[in-house]
Amino acid sequence: MYHTDYFYITTPIYYINDIPHIGHAYCTIAADAAARFARMTGREVYFLTGTDEHGQKVEKAAVACGMGPQAYADKMAIPFQELWKRLNISNDDFIRTTQSRHIQTVQEIFNRLHGQGDIFEGEYEGWYCVHEENFWTQSQIQDGACPECGRELELVKEHNYFFAASKYSERLLEHIRNNPTFIMPETRRNEVLKLIEDGVKDVCVSRTAFRWGIPLPFNADHVAYVWFDALINYLSALGYPNGEKFVKFWPAVHLVGKDIIKFHAVIWPCMLMALGVELPSQIIAHGFWTLGEEKMSKSKGNVIDPNELIDEFGADSIRYFLLREVALGQDGEFSREGLKRRINYDLANDYGNMLHRSIPMLIKYCDGIIPEPSTPIMLEDNLRRLFAGSVPKILSAYEQLFYKEALESIWGLVSAVNKYIDEASPWAVAKEGDASRLDMIMYTLADCIRTIAAMITPVMPAAAQKTWNQLGIGADVLEQAIPQEWELCRLSVGLKVSKGEPLFPRIEEETA
Ligand code: MSP
Repeated sequence: MYHTDYFYITTPIYYINDIPHIGHAYCTIAADAAARFARMTGREVYFLTGTDEHGQKVEKAAVACGMGPQAYADKMAIPFQELWKRLNISNDDFIRTTQSRHIQTVQEIFNRLHGQGDIFEGEYEGWYCVHEENFWTQSQIQDGACPECGRELELVKEHNYFFAASKYSERLLEHIRNNPTFIMPETRRNEVLKLIEDGVKDVCVSRTAFRWGIPLPFNADHVAYVWFDALINYLSALGYPNGEKFVKFWPAVHLVGKDIIKFHAVIWPCMLMALGVELPSQIIAHGFWTLGEEKMSKSKGNVIDPNELIDEFGADSIRYFLLREVALGQDGEFSREGLKRRINYDLANDYGNMLHRSIPMLIKYCDGIIPEPSTPIMLEDNLRRLFAGSVPKILSAYEQLFYKEALESIWGLVSAVNKYIDEASPWAVAKEGDASRLDMIMYTLADCIRTIAAMITPVMPAAAQKTWNQLGIGADVLEQAIPQEWELCRLSVGLKVSKGEPLFPRIEEETA
């Protein structure tokens, strides 16, 4: 259980030299589900995402388009903002590293760390990968190429500024050892422990080879190294150091891809320690979406545009698929077939049938009004026990961002409701004319659907709301469906049910 009243969750800020693909969407959707769940549990939430707009890579991309870097950034940030709207992302803020609020914070931090001797001058000689925006040592490079992406490296010899990360590494090691859930999942925690045990080097934090960055306040010939600039977004968005939001919401939960764990779990905590700021409460790393077994990325040309999928299948289906198909932390191979299968089996068949069998029966047998339940029999008792047993598991899974597990448990309930429809056979009861028993069955169905819809809210907010609307519940599902309400027998009697459009139409499966 989370113990605070406030919840601050962040996504990485996305490089704008790329247009958003499913990999980016995945991270933002996963963070959105966490934010929505936290709101449902009554916490005040600050959910931050944004764009990373400085650095050599962006400068080069802008030049290639014949544009100035700021104009290029202004243009390229838009597809991200638009996609998040289309995917129903409930972010409270969108930070761009070219905004003055951010630039100001970065410069303040540089001044502060420089003043206390944690940023100092030195000579950097080594290799730089522009694509990864990362420095590599001679021993790390492979056949003269970037060990991460295989691209050609630039030999960099610059008079630079360094951040004294090494000074803080022992304290960080201790923190990670004492806090087993600080870095999740465990494989990433072990990877980070090993990195630190092998030795943390001071980090080069300025560049002189190009201009597109935040000028160092004490030496304008240098611009900030893009990662040093970017990580600070998590503080600048809250108005660090004096902002009200900072006081309220810090520390953060950082959701990141596994490729950038080193920056978030090693360099960033060292920066925070140098500033005397509390460390993030958690750093959670997710896996990659692959296509043809390779990480999806524009440079490999194997990206899937989420916009096309939204046009074809709708935002909720995509959100469901991405969170249901693979456990957070694992890699997943994307396939349209897989997506269609999930839509057809889980959404159209299981969820859709539950809803679209029940609503017409409520209309037919109860004049569309939620009836007063009569005395339950064993069928209802069993169902109530099953729901009561599942709720704590679903809550705990959501809290840990174990969406696959949460959704599997919820779908266990969906199956149980579908089975209940068959076993209770309301059509037979109607034929026999047992009105009181029929009321019990119809109330139970509506009630189960109500709680299931509430439980899917973090993942499929629009479908959940539409389901509630069909049940005549006037309330906003997100505001009202706090988990205490995930219990059965809380549905109000007398609500007016109405038939809506099918939420998840079946998709024709492609024949090979
Ligand atoms: N700008 C940096 C992050 C700075 S955060 C202070 C960056 N940007 S990125 O656009 O390259 O990547 C952003 C996020 O998208 C990363 O967490 C990365 O793991 C994620 N993904 C990019 N491609 C991905 C997949 N194919 N699958 C899943 N996520 C992946 O790094």
